[in-house]
Amino acid sequence: MTKPRRFSRLFYNRITYMGVIIFLIFTVVEICLFILDFLEKGKNLYLGLVMYALLPGVIFFGILLIPAGVFWKKRRIRREFPDVELGRFRIDLSLPHHRNALLVFIIAFSVLIFISLVGSYKAFQYSESVKFCGALCHEVMNPEYTAYRQSPHGKVKCVDCHIGPGAEWYVRSKLSGMRQVFRTLTRTYDRPIQTPVKNLRPAEATCKQCHWPGKYFSTMDFSRSYFSGDDSWPPWHIRLLLRVGSGKDQSYGVHAHMNIQNAITYAAEDKKRQNITWVKSVAEDGKETIYVSPDSIWKDKTPPADRLRTMDCIDCHNRPTHQFLAPYRLINKAMQLGDIDPSIPMIKEKAMEAMSKEYKTAKEATASIKKDLEEYYRTKQATYYAANPEKVEKAIQTVVGLFSTNMFPDMKVRWDTHPDNIGHMVSKGCFRCHDGEHKSRDGKVITHSCNACHLIVEQGPEGQLEKNIDGLDFKHPDGDDAWKEMSCTDCHTGGA
Ligand code: HEC
Ligand code: HEC
Ligand code: HEC
Ligand code: HEC
Ligand code: HEC
Ligand code: HEC
Repeated sequence: MTKPRRFSRLFYNRITYMGVIIFLIFTVVEICLFILDFLEKGKNLYLGLVMYALLPGVIFFGILLIPAGVFWKKRRIRREFPDVELGRFRIDLSLPHHRNALLVFIIAFSVLIFISLVGSYKAFQYSESVKFCGALCHEVMNPEYTAYRQSPHGKVKCVDCHIGPGAEWYVRSKLSGMRQVFRTLTRTYDRPIQTPVKNLRPAEATCKQCHWPGKYFSTMDFSRSYFSGDDSWPPWHIRLLLRVGSGKDQSYGVHAHMNIQNAITYAAEDKKRQNITWVKSVAEDGKETIYVSPDSIWKDKTPPADRLRTMDCIDCHNRPTHQFLAPYRLINKAMQLGDIDPSIPMIKEKAMEAMSKEYKTAKEATASIKKDLEEYYRTKQATYYAANPEKVEKAIQTVVGLFSTNMFPDMKVRWDTHPDNIGHMVSKGCFRCHDGEHKSRDGKVITHSCNACHLIVEQGPEGQLEKNIDGLDFKHPDGDDAWKEMSCTDCHTGGA
């Protein structure tokens, strides 16, 4: 007498075996990973991806193979032995092999439900996490992630600005996210990733969750030092009071003019929104003023609706967290702080040159910056170098460090590929509209006055500062007056 089978004979086939084996092995693996992840407090990034994205799929596949094998076997028996009575589908709990099959089914199904519940919750949490956005897509997001971590928003989650609250935007972002994951895996993404972001959620639902007019400072105080490249003028100091505007007195300052006092709509002739030639301002009382620059393609007509954009936070704060700073700013600051000793001859110019060169990879950049600077000081400044090797070495280390956190050759990202719209010195920024050229029919001009946005309250060489709390007339550090007729960006690029 043969041993009674535990299950219906239909279960005894290769495909079903394979399904059971896959199911068992990967369930055990998944459980071990759960424990590991728990012990490591979710620190390991790739573990997360394997656990929540990959393994549940494999386990589910294993479970699918079990009935697939049954159907396959049934068909084969039918084809080979058309006379065999296979019986109808029925469940009879008095038969041991039915009881067993049901038991296995219930266990497998519960495991699956458990994994998919915990898994989808964890997958949700995980795909929302900064780690997922920034670190997993390593190379692609490296510039944004690195800049983000050192910015004032380094603790704000990516999704708080990029997605915001609400189910609709969550789904939208996941749909476009799938395309992005695909492009990452196939390495067909743009370098650099395009900016401005086309479908960024309006600032209303993101920035304004944390910042609102009542909370702005009324003025911000900037103190900066500037150093000459070729040591031809002494270190220069400027202190600016930036009139940001506060909630109590909303009619004054920078923040007043966008959505508090006026609604401003504009059209740019380029995709990066740098060449703005048509601007409409609607005052609170409904009065419209249209400002056009002299060479605008929309001089005598209204731009088409799909080119119009209503100004919001992002039109000025386009780099609130992914700040890729220009060499002049980085080096001035390092010299101000003493990380680069200002007494090293020609250091500003040489460091600017090293940081501004175009490199292919970050590795090449590091090696080349070190080599070029060392060679210059060893050969061209030999006496100074012999007496102060440690000062030069420290400066080189600083330059390399600043480069690697602000310029990303692998993704072709640097200050000039992602211009910052706050300010006007090395990219047009505020002067996209405030260049003194945007005029209305009745002769109104969008202001270019140096005291409209900020007051210069201190300026001059260290130790001989001019001071006036009501504002000083700007003096250019090298004594030149060309800035009165030209835009700062005609000469200043931020690099060498
Ligand atoms: C404080 C809000 C904020 C946070 C937090 C934030 N971003 Fe951004 N991000 C922006 C803004 C604003 C832009 C530029 C929008 C524009 O110009 O259209 C941007 C642009 C980008 C771009 C497009 C390329 C570029 O540099 O313009 C990428 C990629 C990006 N962010 C990734 C991330 C990642 C990854 C994180 C989390 C590590 C993150 N962001 C966190 C606000 C934010
Ligand atoms: C989840 C909350 C949150 C969101 C969303 C958010 N921020 Fe912030 N923001 C902060 C915090 C926190 C700081 C740091 C405040 C500080 O340092 O005093 C900050 C600081 C800033 C600063 C001052 C930076 C500086 O140099 O001191 C600016 C400008 C700013 N945010 C703009 C934005 C813009 C624009 C957006 C939308 C794209 C945005 N924020 C979205 C929380 C947020
Ligand atoms: C017309 C350009 C412009 C627009 C539009 C704009 N800002 Fe600003 N904002 C500035 C400037 C300039 C500063 C000064 C900071 C600087 O230079 O980095 C500033 C400073 C800030 C600060 C830091 C100082 C503070 O008061 O806390 C926050 C936060 C801020 N803005 C949030 C916002 C938010 C939120 C929006 C959208 C509702 C917005 N801004 C729209 C130009 C603008
Ligand atoms: C898209 C065009 C545009 C951009 C970009 C822009 N502004 Fe303006 N701004 C205007 C217009 C238009 C007005 C005048 C509003 C009116 O008609 O009264 C104005 C007015 C102002 C005023 C009030 C000036 C006064 O005394 O009447 C301040 C301050 C200001 N802007 C600051 C800034 C700063 C700072 C930036 C850059 C961070 C900036 N704006 C960028 C269009 C712009
Ligand atoms: C529409 C507003 C606006 C006008 C008009 C304006 N500025 Fe500025 N300026 C700014 C803002 C905003 C910043 C701060 C940028 C930052 O946070 O670095 C700035 C920064 C500066 C700085 C420091 C630059 C740096 O990179 O360190 C100088 C110098 C300066 N402005 C000079 C001038 C002079 C000179 C004029 C007149 C020709 C002028 N500004 C007109 C808005 C304006
Ligand atoms: C005709 C060309 C030209 C124009 C226009 C111009 N600059 Fe300059 N600027 C220079 C030169 C040249 C230097 C000296 C660079 C050096 O010695 O390293 C300089 C230096 C500076 C510095 C010190 C720079 C640093 O790297 O530390 C500041 C700040 C500055 N300019 C502000 C401005 C502002 C603000 C404007 C616009 C209102 C402006 N400049 C317009 C040519 C110009």
